[in-house]
Amino acid sequence: MISPPSMSRRTALKSVAAAAPILATPIADQVFELKPREAPRPPAGANDRIRIATIGMGIIGFEDTETALKVPGVELVAVADIYEGRRIHAQEVFGTHVKTYVDYREILGRDDVDAVLVCTPDHWHQTMALDAMKAGKAVYCEKPMVREVGEGPGLIRMQDQTQAVLQVGSQYASSILYDKAKELVASGAIGKLNSIEARYNRNSDIGAWQYSIPLDASPQTIDWDRFLGSAPKRPFDATRVFRWRNYWDYGTAVAGDLYVHLFTGIHHVTGALGPNQVAAMGGLRYWDDGRDVYDIIMGLFDYPETDRHPSFTVALQSNFEDGGGDQALFRFVGSDGVITVSWTELTLTKVGIVKASAQQVLKGYNSVRTFSNEQQKAFAEKYLADHPPSAPSGSKPPVVEKYVVPRGYNERLDHFVHFFTCVREKRRPYEDAVFGLRAAGPALLANTAYRENRQIGWDPVTMTVSG
Ligand SMILES: NC(=O)c1ccc[n+]([C@@H]2O[C@H](COP(=O)([O-])OP(=O)(O)OC[C@H]3O[C@@H](n4cnc5c(N)ncnc54)[C@H](O)[C@@H]3O)[C@@H](O)[C@H]2O)c1
Repeated sequence: MISPPSMSRRTALKSVAAAAPILATPIADQVFELKPREAPRPPAGANDRIRIATIGMGIIGFEDTETALKVPGVELVAVADIYEGRRIHAQEVFGTHVKTYVDYREILGRDDVDAVLVCTPDHWHQTMALDAMKAGKAVYCEKPMVREVGEGPGLIRMQDQTQAVLQVGSQYASSILYDKAKELVASGAIGKLNSIEARYNRNSDIGAWQYSIPLDASPQTIDWDRFLGSAPKRPFDATRVFRWRNYWDYGTAVAGDLYVHLFTGIHHVTGALGPNQVAAMGGLRYWDDGRDVYDIIMGLFDYPETDRHPSFTVALQSNFEDGGGDQALFRFVGSDGVITVSWTELTLTKVGIVKASAQQVLKGYNSVRTFSNEQQKAFAEKYLADHPPSAPSGSKPPVVEKYVVPRGYNERLDHFVHFFTCVREKRRPYEDAVFGLRAAGPALLANTAYRENRQIGWDPVTMTVSG
C-alpha cells in the first residue's frame, strides 16, 4: 500500500469550508486538503428506515455491512452464508436479533427487507442480483458485477424492467479524490489526455489471496453444493471455498478482481464508456500453490476519440509478487502535465512539452555535434538567426499541486451514502448495471485476451464483443 502523507505535513493541513462540493484551499507548498462530502441527513421518521440483509458474510460482507450501518437510518435484519462460522460471527458482531440463513432466497422472500448487499464470490453475483431485483429489492452488488461479459445484458434488462436500484460496489466512483481528478482533467489542467497508466500491485501471501481457512471447515459446517451453484461439480474442498479467487470456476482472476476498480476510476475521471481494443499478457510466476489462475497480468486498452474525450491508450498492471511493495497508482498523462492518484492523494505536475534551448540544440545531446565543423558553424549561424534568444527554453520549473483526502476519509462510506440516497429517492445510481458492465467488460476481456492469446474487439456503446 502507498503510505498516507506524513504526520507532520498532514497535521499542518486544515480543512476549510467552501461553496463548491469539492473545494480546496492552498495551505503551503501547493498542498490542498479536499473537503469531505456533506454528512447524510438522518431519516425523517421511522418509516424512512432502510432494512438491509447481506448475502455472503466473508471479508467484504463484514466490511460492507459495517460501513452501510454508518449511514443514518440503515438497519441490518438478516444475513445469509453457506458457512456456519460466518453466520455465528454475524450474530456475535451485529446481535442475535439478526436472522441468519443458509439459503439467500429465504431473505428475498421477506417483506421487511428493502435492500440486499451481494458479497458472495463472483460466480454468484448475476444470479443473486437478478433474483433480488425480481423480488423487489434494491441491490448493492459487489464488483465485478458479472463473471462473464454475457451475463451483463440480463442484469441491465432486469434493472430496466423492475426499475430496481442497483449499484455496483466499486467505490472509486464515489471518491472525492477521483472527483477532483475528473475536475482537473475536464478543466484542461493536463492539456490533451493521451494515455493512462495504472497499477495495482501486491507483495504478500494474503494479498495474493492465500486467505486463512478455519479449522472447522467441513461438509458439516459448509453447504458445499450451495457454494458451487452453477460451477462444475467436484468433491468437497475447503481451499476452494476460502480461496475461491484462485480458481477460474468461481472468480475472475486478477483482472476481474482488480482491473475493475481501475476501469471504474478511469471511466469516472474521463467520462469514457470503454476501449475498443483489448490485449493482455501475463502468467503464473510466483504463487504456484495449486491455483489455476495467473498472478501477473499486463493489459493494453485503446480508447477511440469520442465527444467526451480524445483518443487515449491505457496500460494496466497487476503484479502479485512486486518486491518493491504493495502499490496502487494511476497516471493520467496529457500534453501539458500529469495527474498521479494514489490511495490518499493526487498530484498534478505540469512540465509540458519541452522546447530545447539553443545550447542544447547546438552543443547538447543532439545530431548537430556530429556534423562536419563547417556544417556545425553554418547550422549554428542559421539557427541563432531563426531563434532569437527570447525563444522559450526548457528550463521552467514544473508546477506541482498536491491534493490529499482528510484523515480517516472513507470512499466506501460515500459509496453507501449514494446508494441509500438512491434507494430513498427511488433513483438510478451513477454506478448502475450499465456502468458496472462497462467497467467489468474490458477487465474480463483482458482474461480472454490472455487465455486465447489474441487481441479482442469491444464495442463500449453496445457493450458487445466485436471480434
Ligand atoms: N469493493 C471492494 O473493495 C471489494 C473488496 C473485496 C472483495 N470484493 C468483492 O466481494 C466479493 C466477496 O469477496 P470476499 O473477499 O469477501 O470473499 P470471501 O470468500 O471472504 O466471502 C464470500 C462469502 O460468501 C459466502 N458464500 C459463498 N457462496 C454463497 C452462497 N451461495 N450463498 C451465501 N453465501 C455464500 C462464503 O461462505 C463467504 O463467507 C467478491 O466478488 C469480491 O470481488 C470487493
